[in-house]
Amino acid sequence: MKNKIVELIAANVEGLTAAEIADLIEIPPKPELGDFAFPCFRLAKTMRKAPQMIANDIKEAIGDVDFLQEIQVQGAYLNFFVKKELFIETMVTASMADDFGSSTEGNGQTICIDYSSPNVAKNFHVGHLRTTIIGNSLYKIYSKLGYKVVRINHLGDWGTQFGKLIVAYKAWGSEEAVKKDGVAELMKLYVKFHEEAEKNPELNDEARAWFAKMEHGDEEALKIWQWFKDISLIEYKRTYDLLGMDFDYYLGESFYRDKTDDVVKRLTDANLLTESEGAKIVNLDAYDMAPCLILKNDGSSIYATRDIAAIFYRKETYNFVKCLYVTGQEQKLHFKQVFKVVELLGNEWAKDQLVHIPYGLVSLEGAKLSTRSGNIIYAEDILLEAIAKIKEIINEKNPDLPDKDETAKKIGVGAVLFNDLYNQRIKDVSFKWEKLLNFDGETGPYVQYTHARCCSILKKLDGFTPSADIDYSVLTDVEAMELLKEINRFPKVVKDASERYEPSAVARFAVDVAQAFNKFYNACRIHVEEENVRNARATLVYITKKTIKDAMELLGIDCPEQM
Ligand code: ARG
Repeated sequence: MKNKIVELIAANVEGLTAAEIADLIEIPPKPELGDFAFPCFRLAKTMRKAPQMIANDIKEAIGDVDFLQEIQVQGAYLNFFVKKELFIETMVTASMADDFGSSTEGNGQTICIDYSSPNVAKNFHVGHLRTTIIGNSLYKIYSKLGYKVVRINHLGDWGTQFGKLIVAYKAWGSEEAVKKDGVAELMKLYVKFHEEAEKNPELNDEARAWFAKMEHGDEEALKIWQWFKDISLIEYKRTYDLLGMDFDYYLGESFYRDKTDDVVKRLTDANLLTESEGAKIVNLDAYDMAPCLILKNDGSSIYATRDIAAIFYRKETYNFVKCLYVTGQEQKLHFKQVFKVVELLGNEWAKDQLVHIPYGLVSLEGAKLSTRSGNIIYAEDILLEAIAKIKEIINEKNPDLPDKDETAKKIGVGAVLFNDLYNQRIKDVSFKWEKLLNFDGETGPYVQYTHARCCSILKKLDGFTPSADIDYSVLTDVEAMELLKEINRFPKVVKDASERYEPSAVARFAVDVAQAFNKFYNACRIHVEEENVRNARATLVYITKKTIKDAMELLGIDCPEQM
């Protein structure tokens, strides 16, 4: 319908392309202002006339059109009122399609997303929860747009910290304690190392020596390191299981350890490496950036070196059109440096194909979390606590619900995910149980509840499914039309979310649809006598249910049928 209006305007104005017109067209905030609006300000300059006059002229030029009820001029705006029956018909048909919201824009091209990526031997904390949730949602969004998405977990599993850990383990650790307490014990050992190294700095040399052993393939060193890594992965995977998330590759930093020599060679050949206090760096003064460190003065590679190696590996292996990195904002400079170095090596594509996607902090104030030990917040504990709290609510309000555990898990985990994704990515996320578990606010449980409500309505109609012989043109109530219009934004919302790397657009859409549905449900009875009206309204319930489910799926959230 919008396209038809774009064509109509394009045929009657000069100086704007169809694409520009499409961009300018708005969906009016109120139904009194029509179904589509076209502002004429932009034309004022080229046409040298007041926008309102232009609007009148265009209206005049268009004249009568078969699919339009009327065109009104309001100030500088042309408001288009589409013939209701036709409009309803197109919207219902579009949203009913199985692939509603999907597109083929990606055409099978590959996008790599580097996300989650916790640091081995450290806990999976709330910060890593954000990258995991946002990265997973971007994966779903790009898949829906026809891209092949490669999900990469770039584990922090290499570096001098493992030398320290081995020293600490050998001095103060035991196999039993590590087996028993896992990552928590490894973190204790790491802290202990730093305390002891204050008093006894030689420990740092020992640690360096152990890491050097690792880098040279020493069997004992690698065996201990691998064990630490396995233990950590078991814990991380528990969290991923709770979240219902998975990766295509766990390729941590260690995977690139034999690929950093090549980086050094490329940089040397391109004359980009300079020496600074024994270290090797790429000078980035010309770009107003601190230099990018490539090799430390002991010749070992660092985080950035391995990231550069990973870019070449990924480009060669997956031939991505984009490689996205979801991490906290504090890594902004790191990625700017790394991307610049790759570009300086003669890779123009680095300019727009490598994208850092930063996000804000998590504020735990008001969360009152029970912690395992000290103040360390494990993502897993947050999820388990959310599930437990939801279970309490269910036991109180709906004790006979079947699959209580499964449902509590979907709602609890969904609430945490939604709370994160409803926020604009770059903003800090606050964590307040009362708010995020509320069934009434702009929350995951609220959207899920609306979905469950749709399911129950349809169930009461004997599992109604739409059929071809229903006449939808009876859906003319304002609330029904508003709901349909809301739902029909879905394809645009998905696209917009992908362009801005902003899953919050989808989360907000889900709330908008849920709110529009609840208005509709309050205003229009569904179980009415007249069969066609009943069926048409039931169809709207069906479409709402389906669209909410699909939108939530893009956020990584499952909607239970009953709750
Ligand atoms: N392990 C890092 C951290 O926890 C995140 C890694 C992000 N990915 C990358 N390719 N550098 O901060």
